Amino acid sequence: MSDTETYRGKTLTIHVDGAKCIHSRNCVVGLPGVFKANVEGPWIDADAAAAEEIAAIARACPSGAITYERHDGIEGERAPDVNLLRVRENGPVALHGDLRIAGHAPCTRATLCRCGASARKPFCDGSHAGAGFTATGEPATTQETAMLDGRGGTLEITAQVDGPLRVAGNVEVVSGTGRLVRRATKLALCRCGGSANKPFCDGTHKTNGFTAP
Ligand code: SF4
Ligand code: FES
Repeated sequence: MSDTETYRGKTLTIHVDGAKCIHSRNCVVGLPGVFKANVEGPWIDADAAAAEEIAAIARACPSGAITYERHDGIEGERAPDVNLLRVRENGPVALHGDLRIAGHAPCTRATLCRCGASARKPFCDGSHAGAGFTATGEPATTQETAMLDGRGGTLEITAQVDGPLRVAGNVEVVSGTGRLVRRATKLALCRCGGSANKPFCDGTHKTNGFTAP
């Protein structure tokens, strides 16, 4: 389900899919005159800053809740040259790349549930906080760190029934502080919350009763 709001300005239109927001507050802190915190009703003024400033804040929205279209002839958002998967302490994994999430429109940014509690799987809906989910944002660096043939390109993400998220494509897994954890072309990411090797699946979903479509 999407509850997208649209705010049209002279040079750029902002879309916000509130159901994807993980409340990182990048937007309301980065450009408080555009993204207004704690207001009733419309909370975005798409003309309150230069289009490039707003576009930069939109591209920094980790969940992909904010997207934009420009009306000034400048190119819109494009996929990054390097696909990244960031591990968030006690929270979701954040992907940045040319993302093809099965059953959803292509996108470049997404935060995906790894606690098992989201009602919007595969996306994070913030349930990790209420669920008391704890998981390090600094997993150990593994040995598979050789350079890949490519660093960008399409990332295919598929949710395995009652099991992990499968990621296929060039991807660099980094910790919350940006340290390289692993380079890979295939990953199985824990989404049941039970793995002892988070963010990776260790098969625990088979024994802890995890169910997910
Ligand atoms: S996830 Fe995006 S929309 Fe939500 S607070 Fe962060 S920057 Fe703003
Ligand atoms: S999905 Fe959590 S261990 Fe496999």
